[in-house]
Amino acid sequence: MRSVTAVANPNIAFIKYWGNCEADARIPASGSISMNLGGLETRTTVTFNPELEGDTLNINGQEAEQAALERVGGFMNLVREMAGNKHFAMVESHNNFPMGAGIASSASAFAALALAATRAAGIDLDEGDLSRLARKGSGSACRSIPEGYVEWLADGCDPDSMAISIAPPKHWDLWDCIAIVHRGHKLVGSREGHDLAHTSPLQQARVSEAPQRLKICRKAILERDFEAFSDIVELDSHLMHAVMMTSSPRLFYWLPGTIAIMQAVSSWRQQGIPACYTIDAGPNVHVICEGEEKELVEARLRQIPGVIDVITAYPGEGTHLLI
Ligand code: PMV
Repeated sequence: MRSVTAVANPNIAFIKYWGNCEADARIPASGSISMNLGGLETRTTVTFNPELEGDTLNINGQEAEQAALERVGGFMNLVREMAGNKHFAMVESHNNFPMGAGIASSASAFAALALAATRAAGIDLDEGDLSRLARKGSGSACRSIPEGYVEWLADGCDPDSMAISIAPPKHWDLWDCIAIVHRGHKLVGSREGHDLAHTSPLQQARVSEAPQRLKICRKAILERDFEAFSDIVELDSHLMHAVMMTSSPRLFYWLPGTIAIMQAVSSWRQQGIPACYTIDAGPNVHVICEGEEKELVEARLRQIPGVIDVITAYPGEGTHLLI
């Protein structure tokens, strides 16, 4: 029995993925851009075992709940089909960051699982195919496969949609200072949220103008233009939350602490401190700045009432094997 361990980072989207053309295959309604979160990681070990009567899943040393096991089992079926392998597997996963803290643990989970499971099954996919496979576990997982700054290409509801690296981690010393205002699991997960996106009258406008925002964000990253980057990142986050708030039923993720951080970051920028924010499907705020400002931004965030912790991350590597 061969065990294979893979390591993946979660990622933070600067241009968001919200809504699918096709939900099951996770074909996104528009492209997105992200950065892998170095220092935060999921390590997953997969061992196929002919004696098992079903897949097993252990997360952070505990047997996983049925829903998580079923989701992983469905993904493992895809790998078994590709490999012509009928055996079940033992899947063990460890995160070094808190789950349910608004950091997309499903992205790093399915990126690491895609690599560990395919290699354990004896298949060696190229980066594009690995990204396509990870996408089927969790959409944003496809962006954790390539290194550094990543774009998920999604022209015209492409069924072969996958992510590519647009710049390596060393290209730009950006930091994500994640201000935690709430630690619980979100009430409505992103999976159900994607299905609601089309019920918002704003989604069509958000999607139709996505290519323009992707272009501006890509250029800002390639030119390390923090001002242009800040404007487009905040605009894109506001657009996604406007869609969420105007869906039926509506989704409202912000807490008072969320708004306090948004206002603080805006005022810091007016005072000349280059920092901007983006928010995923939860109340915690990802505050982005360059390395020079990281200590100051982190210290200031900790002083805001309602902030219970700050977790920091830098541009991360792509998903890789642990040898
Ligand atoms: O990959 P999912 O289904 O967890 O969706 C991620 C959705 C957001 O985090 C809100 C946005 C994004 O692009 O990561």
